[in-house]
Amino acid sequence: MYSQAKVLAGGLAHIPVLIGVFYFILTFFKKRAQEFPQDNKGKTSEVKVSSSKPEPKKVPVSKSEAPKPVKKKHADVPVNIYRPKTPYEGTVIENYSLLNEGAIGRVNHITFDLKDSDPFLNYVEGQSIGIMPAGEDSNGKPHKLRLYSIASTRHGDNFEGNTVSLCVRQLQYEKDGETINGVCSTYLCDIKPGDKVKITGPVGKEMLLPDEEDANIVMLATGTGIAPMRAYLRRMFEATEKKKNNWNFKGKAWLFMGAPKSANLLYEEDFQRYLADYPDNFKYTKAISREEQNEKGGRMYIQDRVLESANELFNMIEDEKTHIYLCGLKGMEPGIDEAMTKAAEEKGLNWSELRPQLKKAGRWHVETY
Ligand code: FAD
Ligand code: A2P
Repeated sequence: MYSQAKVLAGGLAHIPVLIGVFYFILTFFKKRAQEFPQDNKGKTSEVKVSSSKPEPKKVPVSKSEAPKPVKKKHADVPVNIYRPKTPYEGTVIENYSLLNEGAIGRVNHITFDLKDSDPFLNYVEGQSIGIMPAGEDSNGKPHKLRLYSIASTRHGDNFEGNTVSLCVRQLQYEKDGETINGVCSTYLCDIKPGDKVKITGPVGKEMLLPDEEDANIVMLATGTGIAPMRAYLRRMFEATEKKKNNWNFKGKAWLFMGAPKSANLLYEEDFQRYLADYPDNFKYTKAISREEQNEKGGRMYIQDRVLESANELFNMIEDEKTHIYLCGLKGMEPGIDEAMTKAAEEKGLNWSELRPQLKKAGRWHVETY
């Protein structure tokens, strides 16, 4: 039989156990409150999106989870050293016609001195510079800049690394019986050695050459679209330039060049010299639109030449070391696409699938205007 005293003593004996349990529960909640402070906040703080306090950074738990440093593509290629608000004033060194007797229009090779630029205006093959023509537009505002593909290598035509050259066609068209001259192209074709010209840039990473010496380079150019290709070919085949650049090109370069007349072919003598010096590395296919006819009796364009060479060209394209560069008239793009579609079909390939793949792989380069 339990006496009252016994019950009391038994109850008292449980007190330390109850204190222990109470203490355990208290410490558990205290610890949790420290580990998960957000549990203690109201709803408003959860939906609050703007806070001056930066989000705490998630710390990677293991080395393998740590973000790898991503090397920016072509990070070492210079861009926008000079901008329109503070252009570099370059001095014209030379400005001469690239055309022969009987040619159509006006196309000039123009070289600017860069040696006084500070910071130095350096560039690589395939980039463009901006030119700000002197004078004002019809609203009394300074003319906007126009872009021009650089036609020289980074070492310049004099191989001293302090000039830049352009290949410029004067824009001319008829409107209401009047001849309209393009603002900047006329300004450039008219400037004289010693004149100062406002230059911006360099810009562009679309038309850069690959680093690999055994790459194959297919070039499709119309008119002044030859400018970047002239720089590539000098880099590959011009003796003094080769010594300077230490880039021993071992691949195959194939130039398709479109011009209206033979007298309009640009840098022809240089290209003939490269053909003689490097017959195994250089191939040169011309389309002289107003002197030659395509299969249908129409003007011969580079896309017609592409079709004629479909098999050989696509054998090259199937090689992942081959890059294709397209530069010049915007209007040639549909024609080139059509020709590539047909040429691909002949090899059992689908151009509309292949082209995005080439683009993604950085092997399809287009700059048209
Ligand atoms: P503008 O005075 O600006 O006149 C051009 C305007 O005239 C056109 O916008 C259009 O509105 C009008 N127009 C043109 N043709 C006709 C027509 N047939 N009928 C009616 N209206 C017409 N050019 C080169 O010569 N060499 C290069 O290496 C070169 N590289 C380039 C690289 C890039 C990346 C780009 C974007 C362009 C390049 N250009 C090049 C083109 C150059 O930038 C100029 O657009 C070109 O010189 C004409 O400029 P402009 O000031 O003489 O003509
Ligand atoms: P054409 O003018 O006879 O029609 P340039 O800039 O010196 O005029 O040279 C451009 C060359 O590109 C010319 O031979 C010109 O031919 C040619 N051309 C013109 N339109 C196209 C086109 N849509 N596709 C390919 N080539 C073209």
